[in-house]
Amino acid sequence: MRTITLVTQKGGAGKTTLATSLAIAAQQAGETVAAFDLDPQGSLVEWGRMRRKAEPSAVPQPHLPVVERFPPDRVGQMRKMLDSVAGKGVTLAILDTAGADNPTTRAAMDASTYCLVPIRPTRLDLLAVRATVQAIMHSGKPFAFVLNQCSTIPRNSRANDTATGLASIGFMAEPLILLRNDYQDAFAAGQGVTEYAPDGKAAEEVRQLWKWVSTQSETKV
Ligand SMILES: Nc1ncnc2c1ncn2[C@@H]1O[C@H](COP(=O)(O)OP(=O)(O)OP(=O)(O)O)[C@@H](O)[C@H]1O
Ligand SMILES: [Mg+2]
Repeated sequence: MRTITLVTQKGGAGKTTLATSLAIAAQQAGETVAAFDLDPQGSLVEWGRMRRKAEPSAVPQPHLPVVERFPPDRVGQMRKMLDSVAGKGVTLAILDTAGADNPTTRAAMDASTYCLVPIRPTRLDLLAVRATVQAIMHSGKPFAFVLNQCSTIPRNSRANDTATGLASIGFMAEPLILLRNDYQDAFAAGQGVTEYAPDGKAAEEVRQLWKWVSTQSETKV
C-alpha cells in the first residue's frame, strides 16, 4: 500500500482540497482508497459526510473512498492503523494533515511513501515553506511541491517565479493547479473535481497530477 501525505504548515494552501480530488481521481484510476483526516479542524471528514448525504445520481459510490478521522491521541498507533487498512485491501492511503507542526503531522510524514506539499505562488508562502521542507527532510521521505491556486490570467509570471524559487529545494509536481471554481464547488458537493465536472480543466489537471504522483511514488515503494 502506498501512503501519500498532504503536508504544509501554511494554512489554506490546499491540502484538503487536493486530498479529496486526488482520492477520487486515484479511485477512478483503479486504486482502493482510504483517506484519513489528521486535522482537528475536520474538513476532510466533513467532505466525507457530505458525500454520503449526496444524491446517488451525483455520487454513485457515496461510501467510497473510506474517509475517517485519525485522532491525535492515537498517534502512536498510526503504523498499526495503516497496516490494518492495507490488510483489508486498501492500495492507497491519503493523509490530510493540519496546517501546523505537531506530533501527528510528524508521524504522518514518517509513515508516508511520498509527501506532497501544496503551496500558493506568493512570496509569503515561499518563505513559510522552508520549515515544512526541513521537517520532511528530517523524516527522510521523498516529496514534491504542488503549486496550487495559480492565476488563470495568461502570462502571469508568479507561478513560474515561485517554481524557480522552489526548484533549488525540491521537485515540482506537474501540472500547476490553477485557481478554479470547480475545486470549491466539487468539495461543497462531496465530490472530487473529476466527478463534479469530468470534462473541465480542473478535472484534467487532477487526473494529470494523480498520474504524476502515482509514477513518482511507485518507484519509492
Ligand atoms: N485550486 C484551487 N482553486 C480554487 N480554490 C481553491 C483551490 N485550492 C484550494 N482552494 C480554496 O482555498 C481554501 C483553502 O483550501 P484548503 O482548506 O484545502 O487548504 P488547507 O491547506 O487544507 O487548509 P488548512 O491548513 O486550514 O487545513 C478553501 O477555501 C478552498 O476551497
Ligand atoms: Mg485542510
